[in-house]
Amino acid sequence: MENKLFELAARRRSIRKYTKEPIRDEILTEIMKVALAAPCSFGHRPVEFVVVRDKQAIRELAACKRLGGSQIIGADAVIVTMVKLDRGEFWIEDGAIASAYILLAAEQYDVGACWVHIRNRAGQQASSDEEIRGLLGVPEGYAMLNLIALGSKGEDKKGYSEADFDFGKVHYESF
Ligand SMILES: Cc1cc2nc3c(=O)[nH]c(=O)nc-3n(C[C@H](O)[C@H](O)[C@H](O)COP(=O)(O)O)c2cc1C
Repeated sequence: MENKLFELAARRRSIRKYTKEPIRDEILTEIMKVALAAPCSFGHRPVEFVVVRDKQAIRELAACKRLGGSQIIGADAVIVTMVKLDRGEFWIEDGAIASAYILLAAEQYDVGACWVHIRNRAGQQASSDEEIRGLLGVPEGYAMLNLIALGSKGEDKKGYSEADFDFGKVHYESF
């Protein structure tokens, strides 16, 4: 049976190297449209994003993750996923599902993307969370979940095929 979403999901890989070709603004807008369409707990829509394209700002963002942050240098855009905590029991889930939508949307436009972990990570002097909030002027009451680096693909990675997935992990009726 045709399954376009599976094809897209299986083709998606984490892309960590980017060319200098910029992502078209309209594509970025379409990607963010998909992010906003993600489901969320209680329908409160607590997830917000800062899209950073300024290259110096991307370098400064990279420094907010002491170990491993430098991988975002070279990205054309970095999406900072943050979640408002006022009804926050499900903040990680809310941020994660919006992030997954971004990864799939990027692949739809053949844009390379990689989730870069931020939660509970250290920056230079404080936590990554605090340093990013300071850098971007995020008000109190938000938590930073991740950075999603985006750029034109600078590495060629083979997508997955059905054979790569273990259908035995799907249990029916009981484990
Ligand atoms: C919660 C989460 C955290 C991740 N953190 C990082 C990260 O900090 N740096 C990185 O390069 N990739 C990170 N990734 C990407 C994973 O390493 C990647 O998805 C995994 O190795 C599978 O490879 P694929 O995305 O190409 O299928 C993260 C992915 C998830 C879902």
